Amino acid sequence: MSSPAASPVRVAVLISGTGSNMAALIDAAQAGASGYEIALVLSNIEGAGGLAVAAAKGVKTVAIPHKPFGKDREAHEQAVDAALRDAGVQVVALAGYMRILTPWLVRAWDGRMLNIHPSLLPLYPGLDTHARAIAAGDAEGGCTVHLVTEGVDEGPILGQARVPILADDTPSALSERVKTAEHTLYPQVLGDFCKGLARK
Ligand code: GAR
Repeated sequence: MSSPAASPVRVAVLISGTGSNMAALIDAAQAGASGYEIALVLSNIEGAGGLAVAAAKGVKTVAIPHKPFGKDREAHEQAVDAALRDAGVQVVALAGYMRILTPWLVRAWDGRMLNIHPSLLPLYPGLDTHARAIAAGDAEGGCTVHLVTEGVDEGPILGQARVPILADDTPSALSERVKTAEHTLYPQVLGDFCKGLARK
């Protein structure tokens, strides 16, 4: 006798901009059998383009702008955390969420928060990853999905995809090709992660 299928893990995606990774995560969930559903898309930017994209796909969205909180990063994060808990979120996926998190939020979601970063970590944490890879003469760039820990872009690596760097590459051309790889990698890694959680 087969056991009943586990219900999909409830995931929130945090974005600051376009949300192309978020859209890929939603599409994979809506296609079925991903092991997760997107319960909420949350942005720290009121008019973030990705919010309209998510809403058009029928996903609940919320903006919690950081600006009114001034320098009190933790107060902003407490508002974010409350929205996540209200939506019954179990796992958080950062996807172009351009805020450095305080230890408070990282600890609150310890082992349940993932991030995608546009380099082959541990190479090039931080910003301008593609320009740095090209300037270094690297033969390949890529992207990494990792668990979020207190050190920026330092958590355990869950998956990577490699992309060749071409002779005449520019940061923007490389960025486009890496993003295409991100759109395959992130749903795959998040799906495996959530299926692993469901088995625990
Ligand atoms: C992605 O390339 C992601 O890897 C990067 O921001 C982009 C967001 O694009 N994240 C970081 O740089 C985090 N340090 P998207 O909004 O189209 O998904």
